[in-house]
Amino acid sequence: MVAGRRPPRRHRRRGRRLLRHRVGGRHHRGARRAGVAASGHGARGNAGRRARPGRHRPGPRTRPGARGAPAHPLRHVDLDHLTAVHDDGTVGVQDVDLRVEAGELVLLTGRVGSGKSSLLAALAGLVDHEGTVRWNGVAVQDPQTFLRPGQVSYVAQVPRVLSGSFDDNVALDHELARSLADDAVADARLTRDVAAAGGRHALVGHRGVRLSGGQVQRLALARALASGADLLVADDVSSALDASTELELWQALRERGTTVVGASSKRSALLVADRVVVLGEGRVQAVGPWRELEADWGHLAG
Ligand SMILES: Nc1ncnc2c1ncn2[C@@H]1O[C@H](COP(=O)(O)OP(=O)(O)OP(=O)(O)O)[C@@H](O)[C@H]1O
Ligand SMILES: [Mg+2]
Repeated sequence: MVAGRRPPRRHRRRGRRLLRHRVGGRHHRGARRAGVAASGHGARGNAGRRARPGRHRPGPRTRPGARGAPAHPLRHVDLDHLTAVHDDGTVGVQDVDLRVEAGELVLLTGRVGSGKSSLLAALAGLVDHEGTVRWNGVAVQDPQTFLRPGQVSYVAQVPRVLSGSFDDNVALDHELARSLADDAVADARLTRDVAAAGGRHALVGHRGVRLSGGQVQRLALARALASGADLLVADDVSSALDASTELELWQALRERGTTVVGASSKRSALLVADRVVVLGEGRVQAVGPWRELEADWGHLAG
């Protein structure tokens, strides 16, 4: 369900300029390259956009380690009145307040179009947002840069396979990711599939082994884990997995201590989550352990 529609981007920009003036004019757009600052509104994050030149405002070091240890190890991430706004002005989800503690597994659930993917994409810096994302209590000013691999890794609802080998797909030419690839492949429950296909140098995709939907999901998950990010944003990552693989997968993520914010409509996944966030009509309807929510919201899970 579309939660609403905003004016096209160019009008929103003008609105945000006015907003910046209203709130004191000192901050925001010019400080975006600084990534994290004391407060923030109207942050935007469109992965393909070129960085705007702007005034630089001194602040904490904000670039995540290049696929290494995160520059800002996660203690907690807060969404504060977060509204995700797509490029055409469609509001995907609005006014979300949520704190996720390090090590938690939080899953979003809700009907088709309720805003799960929009929220996750905003949390990964891929969709514009209004409101604030706070990393360890500090507002993220430049989500496009800050909420990216090294700090946050993202698995899309429909992940892509790159042409090349398993290794190419997992490590993406990054040295550190190569060193983390073994664990990532194991934790993504992909080891047996890689062996059956002839090893990590076996080609996949168009010119190689054809992968099933579940294998593509786990390959994308291995890629995300190999980035070494603290926060994994995983959109429906277990939808094509069988029950036992799925349980193994959640268990492995738990043992790694990875903080996960994901989306799922599978009861088996919701049951292992620390908390489930029910979305409906583009808003949060309920939050809690699935056992507590199931009586009212069980119809959403299969
Ligand atoms: N790229 C986009 N551009 C414009 N609007 C979008 C875009 N992606 C999603 N929307 C809209 O945002 C709203 C929320 O959609 P979203 O994909 O976030 O829901 P969802 O809960 O992930 O659905 P599903 O269960 O199908 O995965 C819908 O109205 C949808 O049409
Ligand atoms: Mg979705």
